[in-house]
Amino acid sequence: MAKDTLSITDNRTGKQYEVPIWEGTIKAMDLRQIKADAEDFGLMTYDPAFMNTASTKSEITYLDGDKGILRYRGYPIEQLAENCSYLEVAYLILHGELPNPAQLEQWTHDITHHTIIHENIKHFMQNFRYDAHPMGMFIATVAALSTFYPEANQIGDQDNRTIQIQRLIAKVPTIAAFSYRHSRGLPFVYPDNVLSYPGNFLNMMFRFTEMQYVPNPVLERALDVLFILHADHEQNCSTTAMRAIGSSKVDPYSAMAGAAAALYGPLHGGANEAVLRMLAAIGDVKNIPSFVEKVKKGEGRLMGFGHRVYKHYDPRARIIKKVAEDVFAVTGRNPMLDIAIELERIALEDEYFVSRKLYPNVDFYSGIIYQAMQLPTAFFPVMFAIPRTVGWLAQWQEMLRDDEQKIARPRQVYLGEDKRDFVPMDKRKK
Ligand code: CMC
Repeated sequence: MAKDTLSITDNRTGKQYEVPIWEGTIKAMDLRQIKADAEDFGLMTYDPAFMNTASTKSEITYLDGDKGILRYRGYPIEQLAENCSYLEVAYLILHGELPNPAQLEQWTHDITHHTIIHENIKHFMQNFRYDAHPMGMFIATVAALSTFYPEANQIGDQDNRTIQIQRLIAKVPTIAAFSYRHSRGLPFVYPDNVLSYPGNFLNMMFRFTEMQYVPNPVLERALDVLFILHADHEQNCSTTAMRAIGSSKVDPYSAMAGAAAALYGPLHGGANEAVLRMLAAIGDVKNIPSFVEKVKKGEGRLMGFGHRVYKHYDPRARIIKKVAEDVFAVTGRNPMLDIAIELERIALEDEYFVSRKLYPNVDFYSGIIYQAMQLPTAFFPVMFAIPRTVGWLAQWQEMLRDDEQKIARPRQVYLGEDKRDFVPMDKRKK
């Protein structure tokens, strides 16, 4: 008779153990009882980079990397991208259900009325160097927000959490746009609350002297879809950082600054920036074969390719390719697209990439779109951080509500020196 348990024989002692299997996992703590002798600490698992460890249970995002499936709260990403606005999806991710019309109206009002940032934050941002990386400005400014809302450390209070969550979702486009305007030496543009979430973002980015900025509806919708695609992606590097930092019970601004820092890296949200630099370095379609050969020799990576979880075409990349066509109809075709398409074609036929199941990920095409929208390359990771804010916050809140979670504190396998006595300076090796 089949049982949901795992039988383990410890060949060191000959002892047998039976541990429960739950949702395809065994609890690492169930292994602690397995000891070689009475002195033994107990068996642990060794899993650098969490390759095979579920660090949490979650009800937010479902991802099947082998089949290329992504769902938020059960809804396929394709249907959400087709039918929803980003704010609708943000509500869904946070609350678990799509909003009804009254809920959406209230939610939109709540977000819209928190878009302005304190003037001191504006001055803080103005003091960055003219060439400061916008992601560095974004991270520092999000962290600085905690000093403006000291009550945010009352993380056990649901009402308090709700207001900080609304503030963060509302203010990240403002902070992002101000970092862009600062790098351009342009005056900051204040939020315009009659516009949609992406429309207002375009306003704060690109408005010059118009009395009323009118966003291009195609670009506004494209941005909304891109924001939906980036809203959450379960336990990735930055979300894991958010949960780990938040598990110390610090305020959400400080935790999110850490999450954004994790996103900044070129293996994560910085990949879209790295893709554009790579395409620019390739320069011409004719240089692709020699570039691919270099990658295969281990001299660099094909940025925007590969994923820890997806071993199939990233479903977000498929939707983005379509968004790219809509955007280019307005902005004109980005010449980088020809290099990207040919690079993808060659890579998808090459044994190296095929055997390793390396497919384009979300970042392969997003940067090309952002560039066509006149955004500087260094700004691309910020474009990832704006929509991911809701994912980080939903995951943070889920962690706080989960009775099984405690402060994140992994174990290690110590392989350093055994105890040894102090050596005075004159006795140390020359
Ligand atoms: N180009 C060339 N080879 C690659 C690449 C790549 N982009 N990605 C993985 N490989 C190779 C790697 O060298 C290794 O080969 P071998 O088995 O011969 O040593 C094999 O594929 C497995 O790679 P891995 O490093 O063990 O895979 P990982 O799961 O640790 O890495 C990744 C995942 C996303 C960090 C990696 O694929 C990568 O560096 N990609 C480029 C950066 C990128 O596009 N990142 C964005 C990810 S999607 C957006 C997000 O969620 O942040």
